Amino acid sequence: MLDLQNKHIVLGLTGGIACYKAAELCRALIKQGASVQVVMTESATQFITAVTMQALSNRAVYVSQWDAREPNNMAHINLSREADAILVAPASADFMAKLLHGRADDLLSLMCLARPVSEVPLILAPAMNREMWINPATQRNVVQLTQDGALVLDVGQGDQACGETGDGRMLEPEEIVQDLIAAFQPKLLAGRKVLVTAGPTYEAIDPVRGITNLSSGKMGFAIARAAHEAGAEVTVIAGPVHLSTPRGVIRVDVRSAQDMHGAVMSRVKEASVFVATAAVADWRVSHVAEQKIKKTAKGDAPDLQFTENPDILGEVAKSGRAQSGELFCVGFAAESHDLQKYAQAKREKKGVPLLVGNIGPATFGSDENALLLVDAKSVQEIPKANKLELARKLVAEIAQRMKH
Ligand code: C5P
Repeated sequence: MLDLQNKHIVLGLTGGIACYKAAELCRALIKQGASVQVVMTESATQFITAVTMQALSNRAVYVSQWDAREPNNMAHINLSREADAILVAPASADFMAKLLHGRADDLLSLMCLARPVSEVPLILAPAMNREMWINPATQRNVVQLTQDGALVLDVGQGDQACGETGDGRMLEPEEIVQDLIAAFQPKLLAGRKVLVTAGPTYEAIDPVRGITNLSSGKMGFAIARAAHEAGAEVTVIAGPVHLSTPRGVIRVDVRSAQDMHGAVMSRVKEASVFVATAAVADWRVSHVAEQKIKKTAKGDAPDLQFTENPDILGEVAKSGRAQSGELFCVGFAAESHDLQKYAQAKREKKGVPLLVGNIGPATFGSDENALLLVDAKSVQEIPKANKLELARKLVAEIAQRMKH
């Protein structure tokens, strides 16, 4: 299922050069399954035409509050009652100032004022020159609008149409879509700090060779994203992976199991949830050669000695905070067979309240997975689905089990 399936989004455009990105945003929303009704201010029509937005949204665009197409001539009521969310992108400085005062002298501001506040979220994607953005009046308005219940998204940073460089660009369409999807997720971990390990580790043999595994990090990154969508402050400690960081998630890149161990131990004290999805190498080469190991004339293989790596999850699970339930620990088990038996045994061995089993070879690198959740009392199967969908379900299961 697409992330915005069955969602009806009213997309408001106000006057600003970032209107050119609204065309792409409209397409991106529709691609995620949403239906989109565009409402533009008169100023927005100076930057992009209603024809473009109608063609992309497949719906006639509204500009005027006197639009006679509505039988009751109350477009502001009708449009706001149909919406699952009102997204204003770009939201100009002037439009935000207007909203703040509850003014309603055009259709878009009228509709925002008329929306049922508890049912229809209002999301603003600001876009303006950097001086306008940092002006105390704008910053004050952002704070007040947030207090009034609007979700004011971040701004981007970089080159601006005016030739200046700084904060104030509108976020990219894909970023806005991700933030909108997140806004629809229940805030089950609001105020929590979540630490996730993800991906493989890399254990060096010499400067050019090493030992690693097939973990892609996708499941761990999906959990980090889902936890952030659920309102948590999330840090992901990532082994070497080729994945982009989910929006709003803090990322710490590491290479070896020892690096990962150090990164986890220095951060886990503040966390209330620890999810260990990383496929950590059990062993490392005892003496890493400083120079590339050369073949010998006799053809002997190098004599490699191994040392056991620290068991990160095992150590965290033994800590006082984990034992008292202040820190909720979740382990993963990637098996090739007899999943339930091994998952139950691993849960007890690691001493964690929840262990998630999956079939390693079937899921490494894939966008899909199937999970088996094992706790002290039950075994629950979450059937095959997209990793993000599974991650959201796992987050809900974690939230439900947390004591503190
Ligand atoms: O011991 P095993 O590798 O089978 O256990 C898997 C679980 O333990 C996963 O949650 C994994 O992230 C974690 N683990 C760890 N440190 C290790 C080995 C595994 O945190 N050195």
